[in-house]
Amino acid sequence: MKAKKILLGLAAGAVALTLAACSGGRGGGDEAAEGENKGALVGIAMPTQQSERWIADGENVKKSLEKLGYKTDLQYANDDIPTQVSQIENMISKGAKALVIASIDGTTLTDVLETAKAQDIPVIAYDRLINGSPNVDYYTTFDNYQVGVQQATSLLTGMGVLTEDGKDNPDAKKEYNVELFAGSPDDNNAKFFWDGAIDTLQPYMDKGVIKVPSKQTEFEQAAILRWLPETAQKRMENLLQLDGDTKLDGVLSPYDGLSIGIISALTSGGYEKNALPTITGQDAEVGSVKSIIAGEQYSSIYKDTRALGDQAVKMVDAVLNGKEPEVNNTKDYDNGEKVVPSYLLDSVIVTKDNYQKILVDSGYYSEDDLK
Ligand code: BGC
Repeated sequence: MKAKKILLGLAAGAVALTLAACSGGRGGGDEAAEGENKGALVGIAMPTQQSERWIADGENVKKSLEKLGYKTDLQYANDDIPTQVSQIENMISKGAKALVIASIDGTTLTDVLETAKAQDIPVIAYDRLINGSPNVDYYTTFDNYQVGVQQATSLLTGMGVLTEDGKDNPDAKKEYNVELFAGSPDDNNAKFFWDGAIDTLQPYMDKGVIKVPSKQTEFEQAAILRWLPETAQKRMENLLQLDGDTKLDGVLSPYDGLSIGIISALTSGGYEKNALPTITGQDAEVGSVKSIIAGEQYSSIYKDTRALGDQAVKMVDAVLNGKEPEVNNTKDYDNGEKVVPSYLLDSVIVTKDNYQKILVDSGYYSEDDLK
């Protein structure tokens, strides 16, 4: 009886090994046998608790992993790179069998990921690509270029350059004054958001319909290191000085936190709260959705972090079981060492007109959250 069980076990192990070998997946190599990693510890490294979205991301991933029977170690690094590196080192020394990492600076994890690789620990890059390391197995995120397209499209609609159905508005003004902001230059996503937005705005800039009064149209000029609201506020204050009497029609902002800083600068710079330029955002964070409802911020981009968390968990569960996770993009996310197989999710533009349907009816927020 016992011998039979061992034989069966060996056979199952061989099948799992063959699967792992075929898929090229790293599921703990020899340990990829089904069930072997049941109850394993999974490390979840998140960048910061300063933004609601990352708190929700961390909690979603933790909850879903635990539902599947995994143990978790969830850490937030307070946007400090050495802290994140040492948190990941700790996860490895505590025996984590897989790592889910939303990096702060996508280029600073090369050494710690070497350690992970040496112990055959698979790594899933979460939302932000980890650059410069061959030891990133899979990546899940939203279609970041498309997020930028959506931000710019909503800016154009909000200002009245486009009609609600995306057509050129026959009643549009001749010229719109817009200032541009970009995200953190060390976050791989920031350039994708920017490219999507600028590709959408460029034709209007070329025609002279959109003017950037400060002339600061380069990513490097617009970028806000670490996505800090106070840095965005300072830059907006400086832009207002530069722009003098020019009244702004719009501000492209790539993240709700930056939009809050931008709005503060605008209101202290003389704009009335009910006559602000069209301001975009991202993440549909509670404070910013309230601001949208109040008619201050114009739009945000809703990214369902529950779906992203589920995707990351599916990836972990697959690799830890010697299976190949589902991906839907194998060309766009080159991290300088390899093209990382990715699963991209869709995002949605949120405005005052559809927040109820998109955010409340879907259960992402309750009515009370937004009061
Ligand atoms: C995320 C965005 C977020 C930004 C700031 C990016 O990497 O994709 O959703 O707004 O970081 O936290």
